[in-house]
Amino acid sequence: MLLVFASRNPDKIAELKHALADLPCRVSSAADFPQVPEVEETGQTLEENALLKARAVCRATGELALADDTGLEVDVLDGAPGVASGRFAGPEQDYERNLVKLLELLTGVPESKRGARFRTVIALCFPDGREELAEGVCPGTILTERRGRGGFGYDPVFFVPQAGKTFAEMSLAEKGCISHRGRAMARAREILAPIVEGA
Ligand code: IMP
Repeated sequence: MLLVFASRNPDKIAELKHALADLPCRVSSAADFPQVPEVEETGQTLEENALLKARAVCRATGELALADDTGLEVDVLDGAPGVASGRFAGPEQDYERNLVKLLELLTGVPESKRGARFRTVIALCFPDGREELAEGVCPGTILTERRGRGGFGYDPVFFVPQAGKTFAEMSLAEKGCISHRGRAMARAREILAPIVEGA
């Protein structure tokens, strides 16, 4: 069975291939299908955006489609930046400016009130019209200063108590085991396994 991932990001595609490695399905990128349109993320929630993207790919290719959307939800900011995490400091999706804005907004907030979580929602759209959602959450806290050089986005200030380090201090494999996206992909794998194995 073919599964088309509504992403052109090679790192994410590699992660998904790894997560589904033992299933009898082949993972392709939407980049391999010129008929797939660019989809604007106009949804108000991670679920809506993931579904918008997966539906567009399923419709354009006629194949099983998967899409993900991720947000950082900070308690003291009432869940912001959430669905707007990529565009927190402006429409140009600048990781550095987003991180600086987050640290500025949390200036003076004590450690005990700096709780946050990354949340990923994966949408699966099947050619027969069926739709499924898989969620993955990773709880943590926002540090006052950066730690580590790996990862991307908010990784240097996102501290994971369970691991005793930030995402930016983890190897890719280590991050993949406990991250929001890793957990959502593991859940998507559970949904997919009986379907692709029975196909
Ligand atoms: P996307 O839905 O995967 O494109 O994620 C939206 C935004 O959330 C990205 O532009 C990043 O700012 C942030 N983000 C997503 N995943 C991560 C992560 O694993 N670490 C740090 N930031 C992330």
